Amino acid sequence: MTTPVRRCVCPGSFDPVTNGHVDVIVRAAALFDEVVVAVLHNPAKRGTFPVEQRLELIAEALPADVRERVRAEAFAGRLLVDVCRDVGAGAIVKGLRGGTDFAYELPMALMNRHLTGIETMFLPGDPALEHVSSSLVKEVHRYGGDVTGLVPDGVLAALRSLV
Ligand code: PNS
Repeated sequence: MTTPVRRCVCPGSFDPVTNGHVDVIVRAAALFDEVVVAVLHNPAKRGTFPVEQRLELIAEALPADVRERVRAEAFAGRLLVDVCRDVGAGAIVKGLRGGTDFAYELPMALMNRHLTGIETMFLPGDPALEHVSSSLVKEVHRYGGDVTGLVPDGVLAALRSLV
């Protein structure tokens, strides 16, 4: 008899991925056999980075030792619970930077459990990266601030090539 693969989904917009995201993804990979990083986007909204580029930036930010077990995929206009069902994931993993994140995430976790019974596991974010979000990083960079150390090197380069 084969042991079933324990797979989770780490969902988000990842526009772009930050070092806080990477920390959570790597820690999810320590808890599960496989991690699907689900880039969920609204096809009607244009983000800062095209979805294909977001996927590439995630893939190249992953440490070599987890690359085989972590894949990034894009999903447009879908419920997260449907994505989880389609990829065969038994849990959702999200990072929490603090109480504001918890207030935002709790109703979604409860709604997702209401819809299909799927559980959400919250990992405490690295306190050194508590202030890091995709939107703040973009804003700080846009006005000339230094975001080195807050995002993967590939994202730094991508930010610099934004017009
Ligand atoms: O990185 P973000 O923007 O905080 O991620 C939010 C995201 C994409 C995970 C959330 O909006 C989501 O799950 N969207 C998919 C649509 C869905 O399932 N909505 C109902 C949530 S209860």
